[in-house]
Amino acid sequence: MNSHPVEEQVIVVTGAGKGIGRAFVYTLLSHPGLDRKKLKLCLASRTLSDLASLKTQAESIGVETEIVDADLSLKPTLAVERAVNRFKRLDALIHCAGVGRFGDFLSLTKEDLNDTVKTNVEATFLLLQHAYRVMKSSPKESGLRGQIQVITSVAAERPFPQSAIYCMTKYAQRGLLEVMRGYGYQDGIRILDIRAGAALTPMWGEVGAELESRMMKAEDVAKPMVEALFSSERTSMEVLTIRPLQGDV
Ligand SMILES: NC(=O)c1ccc[n+]([C@@H]2O[C@H](COP(=O)([O-])OP(=O)(O)OC[C@H]3O[C@@H](n4cnc5c(N)ncnc54)[C@H](OP(=O)(O)O)[C@@H]3O)[C@@H](O)[C@H]2O)c1
Repeated sequence: MNSHPVEEQVIVVTGAGKGIGRAFVYTLLSHPGLDRKKLKLCLASRTLSDLASLKTQAESIGVETEIVDADLSLKPTLAVERAVNRFKRLDALIHCAGVGRFGDFLSLTKEDLNDTVKTNVEATFLLLQHAYRVMKSSPKESGLRGQIQVITSVAAERPFPQSAIYCMTKYAQRGLLEVMRGYGYQDGIRILDIRAGAALTPMWGEVGAELESRMMKAEDVAKPMVEALFSSERTSMEVLTIRPLQGDV
């Protein structure tokens, strides 16, 4: 986070309704270093009821919260626009919204491809470009203008069976982040790629007890993401790989 003494801190979280994004919000709200009066949140996903319950919890401890229930693949920049309209700045974008369609390489369809590419690649590009533009337009008071975090996956660095489209889109996200980081060095915008391994979230649906026992929990991934917000402004934390203790499942 920026440490300007009187500034507000505006954080947009996509995919905030479930899974790792939701765990990120809970972890942030209970962080001992947090100044709740300074924090302004904008939480986005497709399901209003998920966001409404989070808003109630955040506001009960004094954190002003905007919610945006929209399909990112149709309105990729809306959450950042709403945050900037209401709070007049953007300090961090935590991009957790993402989808996966899994199946044998030869069984995956054009619809699987379009759905996954539209959210994971096209919307991610447009969202990050917009957030970067907003951050770059803010004064560079301390050297740091903002931070963008994206949960890619360990599937952005190694192949997995049943995951041709998912891996393709995660490698694409990684490529975008690596290019953006080059710009970020000049503009004071740090770009963090979170390469998460298997964490039990709604994305997985039902899993058996054996698999579940090997998986991380959403908060295991969220915790270091929140810590990264508080890292020294002299540093650019760039890649955070978090796997289950026994390795990939
Ligand atoms: N869980 C894992 O094991 C794991 C591992 C590595 C990487 N990841 C990545 O981490 C990210 C979060 O995954 P997760 O496990 O937390 O997933 P999740 O439990 O399915 O939650 C995803 C969240 O993103 C939102 N979302 C999805 N598509 C959206 C869209 N088109 N527009 C707006 N919101 C959308 C969902 O909203 P609605 O439910 O309202 O649609 C939900 O709140 C994804 O990018 C995923 O690929 C996950």
